[in-house]
Amino acid sequence: MHHPSVAPSFVQLHQTNHAAVRAELAAGLQAQPAHVAPKFFYDALGSRLFDAITELAEYYPTRTEAAIFETHGAAMAQQVPPGAVLMELGAGSCAKAVRLFPVLHPAVYVAVDISVGYLRGAMGPLQQRHTGLPMLGLGMDFSAELALPPAATDWLAAQGVTSAPRCVFYPGSSIGNFNRAEALALLRQAHAVCADGGPGGGLLIGVDRVKPKAILESAYDDPLGVTAAFNRNLLLHTNVLLGTDFAPARWRHVAFFNEAESRIEMHLQSDGAQIVRWPGGERTFADGERVHTENSYKWQPEDFDALLGEAGFGASSHWTDEKGWFSVFWAPV
Ligand code: AVI
Repeated sequence: MHHPSVAPSFVQLHQTNHAAVRAELAAGLQAQPAHVAPKFFYDALGSRLFDAITELAEYYPTRTEAAIFETHGAAMAQQVPPGAVLMELGAGSCAKAVRLFPVLHPAVYVAVDISVGYLRGAMGPLQQRHTGLPMLGLGMDFSAELALPPAATDWLAAQGVTSAPRCVFYPGSSIGNFNRAEALALLRQAHAVCADGGPGGGLLIGVDRVKPKAILESAYDDPLGVTAAFNRNLLLHTNVLLGTDFAPARWRHVAFFNEAESRIEMHLQSDGAQIVRWPGGERTFADGERVHTENSYKWQPEDFDALLGEAGFGASSHWTDEKGWFSVFWAPV
């Protein structure tokens, strides 16, 4: 059967403020201890290196979460009403939501990512394969603020789904890259987005769990060195954005589980004393001094359940794998 060609809609909320990015990077490099935010991992090469990480035997989260969706998709569909607005946070390639289309039967799909440019490549062909499912790509930094802009609510109205239930989908355990206070703020905003739709909506979210230290540490320090390359690539990206003269070979990848904070920490450790320079600034690093690049929090299910309650959601349920390594939570509004 011939389908007429349909195209997804796109909204980009803001353009990158380059001066603000440079100021943020410079402030982080001059701080004590130095730090660079994990969002700077994801230039074109960094996104590919992350995809490679997900193929590693040691990096269990992606495949464990996929297996949970595979095994428990039908049970999830009992909770998420058909005809919902499916809104995916950090959608990227949209691959995770696509597998849910035949299970959840959403009325429309809204893919949110910091850059519409990245979504464009994925959503064009996707829309051609799902001609009956209207799609909107929304470019916004939801870690700064998660709320539907007027252009998006207008688009939902045009699709006739203003009062449809809303299912916010946040897979990949990306919530783990926020500390408790930041995660709570984001979940409260997700709750408000869900509550603005019709009854029956909620949040479907992937959460990585506390497990033995050796398993966690090898997932973030693999023997092939892919995670080390992912971590060091942040220095090359910083060289492009700020004009620093980082030499990645002089920085060692360090990853360990901080039990007291229940988080994996990633750092880059200076190999020898060195001075890093950029236009308008410099920083001296002693031998062994570190730049903190990422936290990845690991949750006990009961603590995450309490966090969801604090964010305003009703009684949550969750599905897990047979080892109890990862959980997918459904939190109704
Ligand atoms: C994207 N995020 C959930 C990954 C994580 O596991 O925290 C990023 C990552 N960092 C190192 N490996 C993967």
